[in-house]
Amino acid sequence: DTIPKFVDELPIPITAKPKTFRKNEPYYEIDMRQAMHQFHKFFPPTKIWGYNGVYPGPTLDMQKDQTIHVKWINNLPKQNLLPIDRTLHGSADSPDSRTVVHVHGAHVASDSDGYPESWFTKNFAQTGPTFTRKVYEYTNHQMGATLWYHDHAMGITRLNVYTGLAGFYLIRDPIEKKLKLPSGKYEIPLMIQDKSFQADGSLFYPENTAPPNEEVNPSVVPAFNGNTILVNGKIWPHLKVEPRKYRFRILNASNTNAYTLKLGNNQSFYLIGTDGGLVPEPVELESLPLEPAERADIIIDFSKWNGKQFVLQNTNEEGNLGVIMQFKVMLPLSQRDTSQIPELLIPSQPLDEHMAEKTRLLTLGAITDEYDRPMLLLDNRMWHDPVTEKPMLNSIEIWKFINLTPFPHPIHIHLIEFKILHRRPFDLDIFLETGAIEYTGPAIEPEKHERGWKDTVKVDTGTVTSVIMQFTNHVGDYVWHCHILEHEDYDMMRPFQVVKDPE
Ligand code: C2O
Ligand code: CU
Repeated sequence: DTIPKFVDELPIPITAKPKTFRKNEPYYEIDMRQAMHQFHKFFPPTKIWGYNGVYPGPTLDMQKDQTIHVKWINNLPKQNLLPIDRTLHGSADSPDSRTVVHVHGAHVASDSDGYPESWFTKNFAQTGPTFTRKVYEYTNHQMGATLWYHDHAMGITRLNVYTGLAGFYLIRDPIEKKLKLPSGKYEIPLMIQDKSFQADGSLFYPENTAPPNEEVNPSVVPAFNGNTILVNGKIWPHLKVEPRKYRFRILNASNTNAYTLKLGNNQSFYLIGTDGGLVPEPVELESLPLEPAERADIIIDFSKWNGKQFVLQNTNEEGNLGVIMQFKVMLPLSQRDTSQIPELLIPSQPLDEHMAEKTRLLTLGAITDEYDRPMLLLDNRMWHDPVTEKPMLNSIEIWKFINLTPFPHPIHIHLIEFKILHRRPFDLDIFLETGAIEYTGPAIEPEKHERGWKDTVKVDTGTVTSVIMQFTNHVGDYVWHCHILEHEDYDMMRPFQVVKDPE
């Protein structure tokens, strides 16, 4: 008795409209509301939390370098839709409906970044310790890219994102027009998430670990894997397409799940952009792995598949979870396809290892908490420990993530886009004993699909994964963390601070 697939048509998220203009700069108001959402044609409507009451939230469609203002408004009821673990940071005594919005991948001032403790409740009646402003400013001073926005409230991010608080934030560079990429109705965002449901159609999220922790209930779980896959808020949808080229901006917005995407007809496709924007030249791919929070901008050419239908697969899994959605090439070609897969997209901007002023070694590790639960840590520190990463404004740094755990973690750094330098296997036993890194093999180049600008990187188990970045334009407080939301909430998140002067 599984849920029938490809019944619903893929919804395209609506585009947010500015409420007014402030000195010619668009001003938006977007509120968070409890609402009903139809996840599947055969389901009763389900309670969700959504930006403007919809899930996915409305797409913020921006021009590069155009400053906008957004007032994020919390109109949520006092009670969270999901069970809250009171032992996590800030969860013992802060309100259950706290929210704060982060535009993931945005190059933005610290006080508009959505710091986890800058949360607020309805009417800003209660605010977190670092809250300073109601209206956020985004300058969009960065490359055109597929960004996304989502909740980031301390200790309950996993719950708030799961209940629906996520949407697309696109930045367009005028250069894209000249490249003649598929556009308009041929450019489609795909937000992939996994969820589970109760028999009555309401959202299911585990209340405790399995077996349940005796001392803490509800308890955070170390991972969440749903039993259905949704794209743009519908379970296993289908999309009717014309026999021509389409651009898809794909986002893995799942709590824990990673996917490897592949077309069921074994056709290849072209990667034109990564997290931070376009890549120098298109990369032909047969399959595409995506960790939580990673994005891929791709072009699929359906022109040779007129009348056919095939699925978008997830080759990480078999059965239901091996299927994401279906393409039906059954719409008539409405006009000649003049879009292109250009040979060159943008000039490449190298960031060289020799340019780095500082290299930081940062571990990804696990300890056991007082209730006997695993607790994941960065640099062996908890969230509230003092800031240890203080890059200088304009400096270039290399961060080397040393994964001591038996599974990969998608590590995300706010504010900047980085380049992946390499991954290199090392001897775990020697490291645990002496703290020294002894490499056991050569450095491995980033994969074909991850050679562009990134803000999230898969740090494989048993590797030292190195990234390089420059901290430009903004000083202040930001965070870096694992984007498995169950890890981020407990306690795989750390502050960092961009500083003007050395201490
Ligand atoms: Cu996508 Cu710190 O977040
Ligand atoms: Cu993690």
